[in-house]
Amino acid sequence: MHVFITGGTGYLGSALLRQRPGQPWVLWASYFSGAPALPGVEWVRLDIRDAKAVEATLARFRPAVVVHTAYSKADPEALEAITVQGSAHVAQACARLGARLIHLSTDQVFDGERPPYAESALPNPITPYGRAKLQAERRVQAILPEATLVRTSLIWGLNPVDVTSQMVLEIADGKRAGGLFVDEYRSFVFVEDLAQALWELVSLDLQGLLHLGGAEVLSRLEFGRLIAPLHGRDPARLPAQRRADFPEPRPANCALDSALARSLLQTRLRGVREVLQGLGPIRQQP
Ligand SMILES: NC(=O)c1ccc[n+]([C@@H]2O[C@H](COP(=O)([O-])OP(=O)(O)OC[C@H]3O[C@@H](n4cnc5c(N)ncnc54)[C@H](OP(=O)(O)O)[C@@H]3O)[C@@H](O)[C@H]2O)c1
Repeated sequence: MHVFITGGTGYLGSALLRQRPGQPWVLWASYFSGAPALPGVEWVRLDIRDAKAVEATLARFRPAVVVHTAYSKADPEALEAITVQGSAHVAQACARLGARLIHLSTDQVFDGERPPYAESALPNPITPYGRAKLQAERRVQAILPEATLVRTSLIWGLNPVDVTSQMVLEIADGKRAGGLFVDEYRSFVFVEDLAQALWELVSLDLQGLLHLGGAEVLSRLEFGRLIAPLHGRDPARLPAQRRADFPEPRPANCALDSALARSLLQTRLRGVREVLQGLGPIRQQP
C-alpha cells in the first residue's frame, strides 16, 4: 500500500515514520523547512500553500492513503494559508486521485466548558488556532466527505521530548519564567500510542470524526509534576499559574471522550501515569 504523510518532519509525522511498516508498504513523506533525517522513506519537499504542487506531488506518487499532519500556527497568515487553505489543497488532490485522507485536527475546536467531548459535541473554538482547525475540518469535509477527521489532544513523548515537556523542563531549570496552568485540562496523548492508532486507521475505512485522546485527563501542572522526575527534575520547582490571570481566552477543559476509538481500535491510548509505569523505575533527580 502507498501512503503519503504530510509533515514528516513534524513531531507526530516523525513518530509515524519511526513506526512505519516494512514491505510491501511504500512511504512518501513531505518536509517543508526541516531537514528530513530518516532513511528508508522517500522524502519530497512540499509547500501545501501551493495547490498545484500538492496535486502534482500526489499525482506522481498516487497514494492509497494520505495522512495529513502538516500545519502551522506561527501567525494568523500561516493559520489561514497553511492550516486552512493547505488542508483544502490536500483534500482536493485526494479527491481527484481517489485517495483516502486522514486529516489531523485538535481538541481546541471546543470551548472547554462542557467536557468530555464526544464526536457528536458541537464545536465552539475560542482561540485563533481552534477556529482555523475547525475551518480546516469543514473545508476538508466539504471537499471529501469520506475523509477521516482525527481530533487529538496535547501530544507528549520522550525521545525526543515534545514542546510541552520541553517547556516544563525549562521552567524547572529556571531557564524560563512563569509556571504551569493548574486550571487547564487536556487528554494528554502519548505520541507512540497515537502514531500506532493512526497506522491502524490507515487500514480501516472509517469516515468522519474520531477522537483520539489519552485515557487520563490532567492539568498542565499535574502533567509537568508527573514527567519532571523522569527527566531528573524536581517537581517542586514547577510553580502553578492560573489561566484566568491571562488576558487571552483559553479553553478550560477539552477532555476528549474517545469511547468510539476504544471500540474500533486495538491500540490503547494510555494515560500519562500508565505510560510512566510501563517505563519502570524513574531516574533520580541530579
Ligand atoms: N502537537 C500537539 O500537541 C497537537 C495537539 C492536537 C492536534 N495536533 C495536530 O497534529 C498535527 C501534527 O502536529 P505536530 O505537533 O506534529 O506539528 P509540528 O511538529 O509543528 O509539525 C508541523 C509540520 O508541518 C510542516 N509544515 C509547516 N508549514 C508547511 C507548509 N507550508 N507546507 C508543508 N508542510 C508544512 C512542517 O514542516 P517543516 O518542519 O519541515 O517546516 C512540519 O513537518 C497538526 O495537524 C496539529 O494541529 C497537534
